[in-house]
Amino acid sequence: MTNLLLKNDRLLRALRREPVDCTPVWLMRQAGRYLPEYRATRQRAGSFLAMAKNPELACEVTLQPLARFDLDAAILFSDILTIPDAMGLELYFVDGEGPKFRHPVRNAAEIAKLAVPDMETELRYVMDAVRTIRRELDGSVPLIGFSGSPWTLACYMVEGGGSDNFSKIKALALNDPKALHQLLSVNTDAVIAYLAAQRAAGAQVLQVFDTWGGVLSPAMYREFSLPYLTRIAKELDRGDTPLILFGKGNAPYLEELAASGTEALGVDWTVELSEASRRTQGKIALQGNIDPATLYGSPDAIRTQVRRTLDSYAEGNGGSREGHVFNLGHGLSPDMDPEHVRALVDAVHEYSKR
Ligand code: CP3
Repeated sequence: MTNLLLKNDRLLRALRREPVDCTPVWLMRQAGRYLPEYRATRQRAGSFLAMAKNPELACEVTLQPLARFDLDAAILFSDILTIPDAMGLELYFVDGEGPKFRHPVRNAAEIAKLAVPDMETELRYVMDAVRTIRRELDGSVPLIGFSGSPWTLACYMVEGGGSDNFSKIKALALNDPKALHQLLSVNTDAVIAYLAAQRAAGAQVLQVFDTWGGVLSPAMYREFSLPYLTRIAKELDRGDTPLILFGKGNAPYLEELAASGTEALGVDWTVELSEASRRTQGKIALQGNIDPATLYGSPDAIRTQVRRTLDSYAEGNGGSREGHVFNLGHGLSPDMDPEHVRALVDAVHEYSKR
């Protein structure tokens, strides 16, 4: 429905596996520190959080990459850690150290106190940002809303920030799996409510980031991440709004993820798209999956890799480019060259033109 009003509906068409004039492309972390205009807005705002919590500034940085590059979607400028912040864990950032929580949760008693935050009060700034961005986009491209996965959110909530070895949450999984399931269950309820609220506010595509699913053993992935992703795909009431489940290291589980009821899967660069496409048998759309480090290569090298990635998808999809959304296998980094990003975006459209 919403796409009838869009000037560029390539992303929505690709997610429905419908024909498109060329393959749509957007990039994870397309708004960020690699752009000088982002650094300028951030300086003005004072901090990342001040920017993310101010709907006008969040809108401004969301639109920055679209003013520069021929991208086929905008992604809400926010963070996955807004949910635990609203649950009372208190998010803050230490320069050079990434996100941290003032009140991590470590045991069953602390987990039992958690509740789903109210979306239009405690997370109103996110919904206001969605409404503001939709208004400013004025139908040019669709807006992607997002959330962290229950497992990935739990990693930050238990570790209290980023982690190299996930020692605290893995210890919890081993010593008190019931408490961890309780945490994952409340996170799942919150993620479903959060995505539904973003959709109601105007998000036209929804993506779940399972950034840390790949650090689990297969047995633990199937116990602590997959069932909750599946619950989101099954229970999120989304009408014709497509859902993308992105997971770093999700390649071993593509068949199981494709059976969840999601419209699309986002994959990293450790799997060939030809293989991912064959294994999912055209049941869903696929998003990805160039290695972000490709952007450290020259524009010519980038163009070669873009062509390879497009052709790999088509090879596994009976020669057709339908059902492919081009993206990186993970996010852009602050030291990447915006001109290399431009080379990538333009090459996707050029080589995939029908
Ligand atoms: O893709 C986009 O352009 C939308 C914005 C977006 C951000 N975070 C902005 C951001 C999205 C989709 C996220 C999601 C997110 N946040 C994830 C999942 C995606 C992924 O990368 O796997 C995770 C794990 C987080 C948690 C988080 N927030 C991290 C690890 C960091 C980086 C810390 C650092 O200093 O490098 C953040 C902060 C953050 N979120 C930044 C941006 C642009 C950098 C903040 C800054 O300007 O200093």
